[in-house]
Amino acid sequence: MLNDKIKELVEKCKSKIAEVKETSATELQKIKSESLGKNSELANMMKCMRDLPGEERPKFGQMVNEARKLLEEAFAEAESKMQEKMLHDKLEKEKVDITLPCDMTFEQTRGHLHPVSLVTNEIMDIFKGLGFEVLEGPEIETDYYCFEALNIPKNHPARDMQDTFYITENILLRTHTSPNQVRTMKKKQPPIKMLCPGKVYRSDDDASHSPMFHQIEGLVVDKNITLCDLQGTLETFAKALFDEKTKTRFRPSFFPFTEPSVEVDLTCSNCGGTGCKLCKGTGWIEVLGAGMVNPKVLENCGIDSEKYTGYAFGMGLERIAMIKYGIPNIKLFFENDVRFLKQFR
Ligand code: DAH
Repeated sequence: MLNDKIKELVEKCKSKIAEVKETSATELQKIKSESLGKNSELANMMKCMRDLPGEERPKFGQMVNEARKLLEEAFAEAESKMQEKMLHDKLEKEKVDITLPCDMTFEQTRGHLHPVSLVTNEIMDIFKGLGFEVLEGPEIETDYYCFEALNIPKNHPARDMQDTFYITENILLRTHTSPNQVRTMKKKQPPIKMLCPGKVYRSDDDASHSPMFHQIEGLVVDKNITLCDLQGTLETFAKALFDEKTKTRFRPSFFPFTEPSVEVDLTCSNCGGTGCKLCKGTGWIEVLGAGMVNPKVLENCGIDSEKYTGYAFGMGLERIAMIKYGIPNIKLFFENDVRFLKQFR
């Protein structure tokens, strides 16, 4: 038990601690050394112990030590409270507001597919429904795959049909997706039913031509494939892409890789065939080239042309999109003007 004097001392010290400002660490330190240091009242009491009768000394010593312990605890508690408070204040002061106020006038725009991607997906969906598989090929090609194997020999006038970007004498940017016919046939034997969409490049630049544009190629090789299969497939395709009333017309044409070759026209999607500005009054619009795969091409690819026949077709995707959406200039696809693009949302 503490005697009254010691008790009073402890209480006095505790109330001094309580009065110290929450943030004044030096003041607390000062009170601590005054209360517990060498010249403190408590230390003096210890010094007085020798004046006490021998039997009282242990008890007195115990009481002073108990008081010291109480005070030390009180200081430790005050110090830790003070540290906590100071840390809290520091964090509060250094707080960064990471929340940006929401600007309600800012229009949230949502992206969407480019019109060329839209028609590509639509066309692929139609042909996938007819059992075609999609097989893509490289945009940087060799002369062999792009021309030679497709029955377009070097110096042949047919090379002038496609103005080519050459990288070296034998390496070039593909001018059409047809080289993928060769790549596919060299890899697998019939039955083949494939579709190849992708970018192609030609040194050509006006309102309806762009140095880079997209094509989609189709190839079917099997036993007993005839021109009627080609016609039926393309008719089904045209009706699905435009509408049920769309008619298909085959005109004789020439491509070195097909024999016979045809140019395929559809009744104008704008006027339905009566004649308008879009179809230049004819009622028809040319959409693609096609034909029966030239037996020479089959042989070049290691396919027995006595046993198998095939048809192929290729079309420009920008051209299809221009017809479908009534777009007058191919440049619009590549300028990336959002006022144009957002109409296809
Ligand atoms: N490759 C031709 C071109 O770019 C288009 C074409 C015509 C592809 C007839 C074919 C085809 O597969 O049979 O002009």
